[in-house]
Amino acid sequence: MSLLRLENINTFYGGIHALKGVTLEVNEGEIVTLIGSNGAGKSTTLKTISGQVKPKSGTILYNGKDITNTPPHVTAFDGIAHVPEGRRIFPRLTVKENLEMGAFSVKDRKVIEERMERVFHYFPKIKERLHQKGGTMSGGEQQMLAIGRALMMQPKLLMLDEPSMGLAPIIVEQIFEIIHELNEEGMTILLVEQNAFQALQIAHRGYVIQTGEIVMTGPGQELLVNEQVREAYLA
Ligand SMILES: Nc1ncnc2c1ncn2[C@@H]1O[C@H](COP(=O)(O)OP(=O)(O)O)[C@@H](O)[C@H]1O
Ligand SMILES: [Mg+2]
Repeated sequence: MSLLRLENINTFYGGIHALKGVTLEVNEGEIVTLIGSNGAGKSTTLKTISGQVKPKSGTILYNGKDITNTPPHVTAFDGIAHVPEGRRIFPRLTVKENLEMGAFSVKDRKVIEERMERVFHYFPKIKERLHQKGGTMSGGEQQMLAIGRALMMQPKLLMLDEPSMGLAPIIVEQIFEIIHELNEEGMTILLVEQNAFQALQIAHRGYVIQTGEIVMTGPGQELLVNEQVREAYLA
């Protein structure tokens, strides 16, 4: 069943036509990746879904409901977690406080503790750093914290914007393993990446976006061996 569906989405920044009739869907239980070069419209796609940016036309359906033009705090409440490009953790708050911010809508202390334990299961390093300021952590740890913070809201749909950006290969490997594990446990994931090779390896399906248009789609394994994809993104 389709959890998320974008139909013919057009998004503008002033005169810049950033998304040109984007249609894509994410089924429940899938990892879907959206790959493309810098400036192709990947982040804009996620921002349009979470409601940070309003599309000029088109429809976004989530869980059967029209969420086009729904503001970010409402899409978050509905279970869409958006881990933005560049992580954006709160540098002056402690790691623990950062995690708590992810569960802002939860009042029950016990539920918060349980969710935090779950995050430690995926990211044991976070537990060691709990009382440290977020900003003092390495890039990889901050990315883990950003994902951990998103997990604190127990999302139905986890959207990740270039989680591998600027990280050492070994850390990227770990992060992709965790994305894979989260999905194995049932989480639906929309993964935006310039790192097409890694993303296609773990994705059930992929979409290629080029200057605001979806130009190709197919199973991850097929795109991985596709000549055009290889030439443009895997060289
Ligand atoms: N806030 C903004 N104001 C104006 N143009 C923007 C803004 N954000 C993105 N753009 C433009 O929209 C296009 C898509 O950008 P973006 O979605 O960030 O691409 P990607 O994430 O694939 O690198 C680019 O041409 C970019 O310059
Ligand atoms: Mg981007």
